[in-house]
Amino acid sequence: MPLKILVGTQWGDEGKGRIVDLLSAQSDIVARYNGGDNAGHTVTVGDHTFKLHLIPSGIIHPHTLGILGNGLVINPKSLITEMAMLRESGIEVSPDRLKISFAAHLITPGHITLDRAREAALGKGLIGTTGRGIGPAYTDKVSRKGLRLLDMLDLPLFEEKLHLHLQKVNYDLSFYYQMAPLPEDSIVDEYIEYARQLQEYIVDTGALLDIALHEGKLVLAEGAQGMLLDIDHGSYPFVTSSNVTATGVFNGLGIGICPVENVIGATKAFQSRVGAGPFPTELDGEMAERLRGTGAKPWDEFGTTTGRPRRVGWLDGVLLRYARRINGLTDLVLTKMDVLSGLAEIKVCTVYKDIHEETFAVPPLGITQLDQYKPVYETLPGWQEDLTGVRNWDDLPENARSYIRFVEQTSGVRVMLASVGPERSQVVEVPA
Ligand code: IMP
Repeated sequence: MPLKILVGTQWGDEGKGRIVDLLSAQSDIVARYNGGDNAGHTVTVGDHTFKLHLIPSGIIHPHTLGILGNGLVINPKSLITEMAMLRESGIEVSPDRLKISFAAHLITPGHITLDRAREAALGKGLIGTTGRGIGPAYTDKVSRKGLRLLDMLDLPLFEEKLHLHLQKVNYDLSFYYQMAPLPEDSIVDEYIEYARQLQEYIVDTGALLDIALHEGKLVLAEGAQGMLLDIDHGSYPFVTSSNVTATGVFNGLGIGICPVENVIGATKAFQSRVGAGPFPTELDGEMAERLRGTGAKPWDEFGTTTGRPRRVGWLDGVLLRYARRINGLTDLVLTKMDVLSGLAEIKVCTVYKDIHEETFAVPPLGITQLDQYKPVYETLPGWQEDLTGVRNWDDLPENARSYIRFVEQTSGVRVMLASVGPERSQVVEVPA
């Protein structure tokens, strides 16, 4: 079947952008189905590094059509800035190349201010959101008072709705957070201007995808964030506000259930997390610094959206098995294998123990109580060789190959590709 799904199996930042870029070479359409500009997808082509937050990374290939599905919350300012950035790099961004669902929701400065105010009010218990207004925009969607892209097609009505929305935000800001109101009129003017710029991109993307799938066009669904941040299946409440998992694709793109060729899980060769929440295999000290990098390279473990240093740790096989179950993963792409070069030993968590020393292959109540478990590790021998120039399986050091096979065995999912550097070509196909 023509639909492939790419989903992050960890807490985001698994390197999905570059995998989308790779898979886009064989795709006609690349469609985002969840989240907003909280995502950060990095793609390196030659000496150019693209950092995309909203537009599907597949747009870098000139033959693809990019879609922003109804499951998204869209900050029009970020979107227009990103369109301009791509154009400056010589990439065509026009209504022929990018379509936005009329049913996607809008993020306003009101949502962003409320996101930050709520986080500040949480004090020590904060989620560590990206501060992009994601949670408040989805809250408005669910409570049936959101602003949609559809509203941008009727400017007088949009203006009215914007005023109502901002009045409500200003009430909440002053009543709950004792904050100054946002300037209603200038925000309305700004959003009317965004509407003028985006109107011709707004269509029924679900209908378009339905036709494309029936015509046999190849569609790649590009997930944002990682499934451990899913609102239903993630480490709640330290999650994002959307359905990140593969099953979110159908709802987030407005297509019926149809056969899927592959559900590909992007998995970093170690674990990382940005923001608060439990992290059983987290490391600190020298080893953490070693895995994180210094931030000098775009590929180092610092948030693409926020610049925050990421928390890092050993690969968690328990969570990877959980990701397999929830997403129905058929394949894995194991990224950043090159970062593990030079380590004497590499650990992988295979099971958890609780305080009574009882062992769990899978925690009994999903992953909401992760802080109650200790990881139990298998230690594997590392390799010293630099992997960045390796392109063939047989040229990988034996211990790197064994590591990949161990990940397959622990997760129960085959690894189709391993990446050994940020460049498009720095991948190794993994034989079955
Ligand atoms: P929000 O999505 O901004 O509400 O943030 C909720 C949680 O998800 C926080 O822990 C964020 O750091 C995390 N998060 C959101 N988007 C991403 C992403 O693209 N990569 C990694 N973490 C993310």
